Amino acid sequence: MRILLLGSGGREHALAWKIAQSAKCEQLFIAPGNAGTAAVGTNVPIGVNEFGRLKDFAAGQKVDMVVVGPEDPLVKGIYDDFRNDPRTAAIPVIGPSKAGAVLEGSKDFAKAFMKRHHIPTAAYGTFDGTTVEQGMRFLETLQPPYVLKADGLAAGKGVLIVPTLDEAKRELREMLGGMFGNASAKVVIEEFLTGIECSVFVLTDGEHYQILPEAKDYKRIGEHDTGLNTGGMGSVTPVPFATKEWMQKVEDRIIRPTVDGLREEGIDYKGFIFFGLINVEGEPMVIEYNCRMGDPETESVMLRLKSDLVDLFEGVATGTLDQCKAEFDERAAVCVMLVSGGYPESYVKGYPISGLERVDGSVVFHSGTAIKDGQTVTAGGRVIAVSSYGRDKEEALRKSFSEAAKIDFKDKYFRKDIGQDL
Ligand code: AMP
Ligand code: GLY
Repeated sequence: MRILLLGSGGREHALAWKIAQSAKCEQLFIAPGNAGTAAVGTNVPIGVNEFGRLKDFAAGQKVDMVVVGPEDPLVKGIYDDFRNDPRTAAIPVIGPSKAGAVLEGSKDFAKAFMKRHHIPTAAYGTFDGTTVEQGMRFLETLQPPYVLKADGLAAGKGVLIVPTLDEAKRELREMLGGMFGNASAKVVIEEFLTGIECSVFVLTDGEHYQILPEAKDYKRIGEHDTGLNTGGMGSVTPVPFATKEWMQKVEDRIIRPTVDGLREEGIDYKGFIFFGLINVEGEPMVIEYNCRMGDPETESVMLRLKSDLVDLFEGVATGTLDQCKAEFDERAAVCVMLVSGGYPESYVKGYPISGLERVDGSVVFHSGTAIKDGQTVTAGGRVIAVSSYGRDKEEALRKSFSEAAKIDFKDKYFRKDIGQDL
């Protein structure tokens, strides 16, 4: 098969690494890719939202399958766009239709969907410019801290958690006043849930599903979850509290009702569903849905997926996912993200990265890198994911940290406490 993967981050390098291992993969293209994906496939300089050029390429290169990494093209309707063009209509796209991607693209839609299908989630209300006063009254009924979410995509920045009622009221006005542009024209206000988070990933063909290894990610820049939010500083799989019994609750109360709900509502969904869960006194509840894999969870989850990923994708495309089996490696896997000093605020790009060739005990996934005059250089805030196996997470972490020490670039930073809270 000739496969086209869309995206350019660590998630896509990990997907590319796994796809390239399949005996079924004859040629892998990555658009646009990064310095790491260039080592496992062929990078194609087309952006993920350039649908016209992507279709030209897919048709011209006789691509057999398109796999979509990030949410943006999905929310913009790439699945439907390929479908509706006779040149590409027969090429399966792994990723939901525009109607399915709304699970991530609109938090109000996601909350209403969960309510319709009795899926456990925090109590909420949605407000817009015409219902500001009702929003204020709703805030008064809640206990601090207050959770305010921009309805639309806001580059991971659209959730505010504020300690006092006065601040919550002020932020609500600012959000509705355009703090996140059109994304916060509607705001979801939620009850605050206390617990540890866990990411659960599912592949679905719209009827059947296969559950992939679960993971926990680390979002804050500082150790012990302090400081600003980032795109993710590391991940660990398996998650100790995600026992067989807990995962059964997740499947019965959350996964199956979600897949059934999508089908009942006539929503075409063939791709990944990412359930952002929180464990509230032993009971799983949904914090959010995403219509794609997680980053940096993919950089550890792919290590533990033993099954051929292209087989699973074929099952998705043909509606026969029930005949596939997602098998897991029993070992633990972790990822430690090396980031540019200053990130997630301002930082410098273009520093040479040395020592990559000396890494032998871990798998290196590129997140923000580029090649300049033959040299791999930093090209983003999150630069390199160092992913490792171990008998347990401690062993895997020791390996990632010792291999991470071999890689150097100016102002390199990483969190040394990944996995310690579990
Ligand atoms: P989201 O973009 O919806 O995943 O929210 C970002 C982060 O905010 C989540 O990963 C949680 O850490 C936190 N969060 C979101 N909703 C809630 C909630 N209802 N209660 C507690 N924390 C939340
Ligand atoms: N790791 C969280 C995300 O990918 O959204």
